[in-house]
Amino acid sequence: MEHSKRHNSSKKAKFRSARKPSSASDKSDSKKSKSHTNISRTALGEEPEKRGLKSRPTGDADQRAKRELATKVKTAKGRKLSSTLWLKRQLNDPFVAQAKAEGFRSRAAYKLQEIDEKYHLLRKGARVVDLGAAPGGWCQIAAKAVGPTGKVVGIDYLAMPPVPGTQVLEMDFLDEEAPDKLKALLDGEADVVLSDMAAPTTGHPATDHLRIIALAETALDFAEEVLADGGHFVAKVFQGGADHDLLVRLKKNFRKVLHAKPKASRQDSAEMYVVATGFRGRRE
Ligand SMILES: C[S@@+](CC[C@H](N)C(=O)[O-])C[C@H]1O[C@@H](n2cnc3c(N)ncnc32)[C@H](O)[C@@H]1O
Repeated sequence: MEHSKRHNSSKKAKFRSARKPSSASDKSDSKKSKSHTNISRTALGEEPEKRGLKSRPTGDADQRAKRELATKVKTAKGRKLSSTLWLKRQLNDPFVAQAKAEGFRSRAAYKLQEIDEKYHLLRKGARVVDLGAAPGGWCQIAAKAVGPTGKVVGIDYLAMPPVPGTQVLEMDFLDEEAPDKLKALLDGEADVVLSDMAAPTTGHPATDHLRIIALAETALDFAEEVLADGGHFVAKVFQGGADHDLLVRLKKNFRKVLHAKPKASRQDSAEMYVVATGFRGRRE
């Protein structure tokens, strides 16, 4: 099958280094939160002294981030400053609190919710594929939207507790066997293919951008094989310019192509989504 060819070893090699989930944004959030303790409300400016640090971290960004955040976390031994700042941001994030209060697995749930409210992608009875599903926020939104007559199948290389009304494969989407396994679960065409897949960031924006675009392209390969005529595709990308080829391909195969930056997507993050609606169909 065409897709299997595209899921070739070079792509796998390209991503192999990206498979460690340590910084894979929202889904790992809850794990990280659990593993760190001792949270108290105070001004962050005092933190280094209280922690007994010999030197203050320097740099405008560090100082700014520290001023802007209001929850203090006592630093676990060995945790880097960037991790501490990440954790503080997480603990002060209203979407994290809202997700917890409303029973969503991740703050990412609100991204799909907003995209759907705006573009009306998920309807009752729809068949949906969720690529990069863990910890399950998008699955929860999709399952609710499509209802018992619809279908939600997903994949993630990380394990996640089951989301009622969905079936999620625990496997790497870049594995040669993954597309056929997903197709077997789907058992027909899809109305919507979603990809929130993200490899752990490297801290090198150009590399991160290329990796996420390659994941989006692989998701699009799959979408082009399974989408029904008129179907929709959503994929996470980063702002940065090198997604020209992806956009050209989307514009050729879908009637409408837009970029979306949901409110729950952190404003200081380059993350955004391409939303392509009205699949023109497979032209053999
Ligand atoms: C931002 S998280 C997804 C959050 C999810 N949409 C939610 O609402 O809970 C990105 C996910 O993509 C997954 N991922 C990245 N590359 C993948 C791959 N090659 N195969 C399967 N999953 C992948 C990561 O493991 C991670 O769980």
